[in-house]
Order: sequence, then C-alpha cells, then structure tokens
Amino acid sequence: MLDLADISLVLRGTLVSPQPDRSLSIREDCVVVIDSKGFIAAIDNSTGSALADEVDTLVREGKVGQDKVVELGDGWALPGFVDTHIHAPQYPNAGMALDKPLMEWLEAYTFAAESRIDKDPAYAQRVYQKLVQRLLENGTTAASVFGTISVEANLTLAKAFLDAGIRGQIGKVAMDQNSLPSYIETTASSLADTRRFIESMHSLVASLPDEQRLIEPVVTPRFVPTCSIELMKGLSDLAKEKNVRIQSHMCESQGMVDVCREMLGGKSDVELLDQLGLLNDRSLMAHCTHSTADDLARLSRTGTAIASCPLSNVYFSAERQLPLREAWNAGVKVGLGSDISGGYRVGIDENMRWAVGVSRLREGERQRDLRESRRQEERSASLAISWKEALYLATLGGAQALGLDKERKVGALEVGSAFDAQWIQLGHPRSRVDWFDVEEEEGGVVKRVSTEEKLEKWFCNGSEVDRKAVWVQGK
Ligand code: GUN
Ligand code: FE
Repeated sequence: MLDLADISLVLRGTLVSPQPDRSLSIREDCVVVIDSKGFIAAIDNSTGSALADEVDTLVREGKVGQDKVVELGDGWALPGFVDTHIHAPQYPNAGMALDKPLMEWLEAYTFAAESRIDKDPAYAQRVYQKLVQRLLENGTTAASVFGTISVEANLTLAKAFLDAGIRGQIGKVAMDQNSLPSYIETTASSLADTRRFIESMHSLVASLPDEQRLIEPVVTPRFVPTCSIELMKGLSDLAKEKNVRIQSHMCESQGMVDVCREMLGGKSDVELLDQLGLLNDRSLMAHCTHSTADDLARLSRTGTAIASCPLSNVYFSAERQLPLREAWNAGVKVGLGSDISGGYRVGIDENMRWAVGVSRLREGERQRDLRESRRQEERSASLAISWKEALYLATLGGAQALGLDKERKVGALEVGSAFDAQWIQLGHPRSRVDWFDVEEEEGGVVKRVSTEEKLEKWFCNGSEVDRKAVWVQGK
C-alpha cells in the first residue's frame, strides 16, 4: 500500500539500469514511484500489477496530480552520469592549450588559470555557474571535483553545486611546493585552510535534511610532486580525524612517474601515498595509467578507487592507457572522469566512448604482440570493453568509485535508490541518432529497431538534445 502523502513523482516507461556484474538491465513498461525524499519506493509492470492499479486509481481520482506523472514515452530513464574527476577552475581552458606534456602544461597554463579564479571572486562565480549548467545539460548528476587553493573560492564552487542540485565531492587543492610563486601555500597554511574548508563545508549543509546534503568536502593533495611529505602526512591525519574522503592524481604520465621516482629516491608515488595512509576505501586516485600489476593489487587491497579519464590520457599519457580489464580482474573500483581541462569535453559521454576506443587499441596491441612473438596461448578475456561495460563505468562504476552506491544506492535505478537519473528521448530534429524501421515480417513477426539497438545508437551518437530531463535525489 502506497503512502499517498509520500509520492513526489510517478514515471511510466522503460528503465535502464547497469548492474554490478557490468551487464545492463533494460525493463520496458514499468511504473516507478519516487517518495518525498527522492528515493525509489516501488517499481513494477505498468499494466496488470497491483502497483499499476493503485497508481492508476490515485491519478484518476486526482489524488496524485498530472504534474507528478512523467510518461517516458518511447524514451527511457537511466542513472545520471558520474564524473569522478574534474578540475572546475580549469573550465575556461577546456578545449585549448593542449600542446605540451603534462608537467610543462601545468606550469605553462594550468596553475595560472587556477590562480586567476582565486584572485577574482566575480570571475570564479561566472565560471562555476556556467560549469554547473553545462554539467546538468550533459546528464552529470554527481562529480568528484578539484577546486583551487583558496577556501573562499572553493565555497563559491560548493554553493554552485548545491544551488544547481548536483552531488559534489569537492576538494580544496593542497600544494606547498613546485608551483608558481603566486599560486602556492605553506605547509602550515595548507593544513589550516583544509581544516577550515572541511568545517565550512559541514556548516553549509548542517541545517539541511540528510538526503539534501548533496555536497561534501574531500581532502585533496594535488599530487606527489607539489606536496611535501609533511603536508601529505598532515592531510592523511586530517582525513582520518574528520572522516572525509581523499582524492589525488597517481602515475598519470611517464614524465610524472619519472619526476616522482627522482624526488623519492626510486620509490613510486603509489608506494608513498600508501605508506602515508592516503590509500583507503574512501580514496580516489585519478588516471593510474602507469599502474603495474603490483600497484593494482595494492589499490584492491586498500579499497582505493580509480578515476579513469581516457580522453585526457590520450593527450598526456599516449604511451600507456589504464589497464582497465586488469584493474577489474584485480577487484579495483573504476569510474570515468572528464579531467577538464586535461580532457576538453564537459560531461562523461565522450569519455565513455573513448573508454571503448582505447580498450580496443590495447586489445589490438595485445593481438599484434601475440602474433609477432608467435605465441599460441593467451585465450584470456579480451582487453576491449563493450558499450554496455562503458555505460556501467559512466554510471554505477562511478558511483561505486565515489562510495555513493552504498548509502544512497546511486548509479542504479532499483527500489531504494536515490533517484539520480536522466531521461533520454530520441526524435529531436537536431538529434544525431537516426534509425529506420523496416516493417518486414520474419516468421510472422514485424521486426523493428529494438530498445537495446536504440540505446547502442544513443551510446555512440547521443548529445544534449536527446536529454529531456535530469533528476538528482528526485528533484
Ligand atoms: N596532475 C596534477 N595536477 C593535475 C591537473 O590539474 N590535471 C591533470 N590532468 N593532472 C594533474
Ligand atoms: Fe586531473
């Protein structure tokens, strides 16, 4: 029996939900009830079920207004995209200045772009407002975000997320060495400001009901080259004390790996971060493209997740891409990130396509190596991933990497899930997704393009115009 006062939304139509085994559930003709706190209260068939009858009666009697009923038509609802790695202050640079290797790029363009945000609050406001609008248009309902050094600018960023209603795990960047003189902190000020940032973030949501606390602070040592050991140790202790999540960058490019080894007397950033207590089941490390089998085992053992950013990696780590299949086989959680502005595209759709592309190149390389070495064996699973696996990465995989799958069951559309979803409706005049039904009878059955085929077409060619609505926590 439904509690009438507790219905905030009813949907009818197709539900698409990635599964933990990376398969895809496609359920047509569903009725879905969302409760007043924004969680899915019930799902059943839209005809013939007790739930459908009950909902029909409530709507017919006007007890649930038409404004609360969404007919998905021949479209579908699927979980919102999760961007597990984005640098919000770099948005003005998205789509330019990609002509240098990572370590030079940071010095030449990126630190200066972030510093500009910290110096000009009105500019920061303008950039962040536009960014959150673009994220929503692109179906992003949750993100793990790097900000800048300044606490105030990061609070502006957090408020932009809160006002837009997007889930944001937001980090004040910590860096006390190897940056521009105008964009650097002392060890003590970085630790004190990170503490102040965490406390201010908690105050921002203190008066809100639990389910509306969409933003949280993340301890964010930028990466090993810009952080002293003392700073990283202090941040590790602070994360433990405040029970907050941790994010950083790890073994992203050959240049970065070499710098770390030189700084650390032969040790890798992976080993150091682990030694300092920065790898645990609430940690998220961007890229990890140069991970060895031992590194993956370490990430798995500590429960650390990977934010994989294939588009950015094509530019900054062309020599090595993430060993994704191997990471999955080792039991590591992986999500996708845009890595604005190392990656040029806001939103996750382009990255899920690149995830398939680079995995196919890795498989091609493996096949070539096998052929050239004339080895016979290696009937191991292909390194190439399917579009369904990439869609899992973009949604449930990302939610798992951010720990959002546990408390709120984000990343899937099941009973008990927070309703973080996007409504895809094909047929817009400017859509790039076209299909042609041929009403041929095959053994007496008319064959049309199926929902699954349309999904695959949308995976490859979808854009903003195909997205009719986006919800976070039912709003
Ligand atoms: N490593 C340290 N900082 C950054 C950054 O801003 N972008 C990328 N892609 N890698 C980094
Ligand atoms: Fe990054």
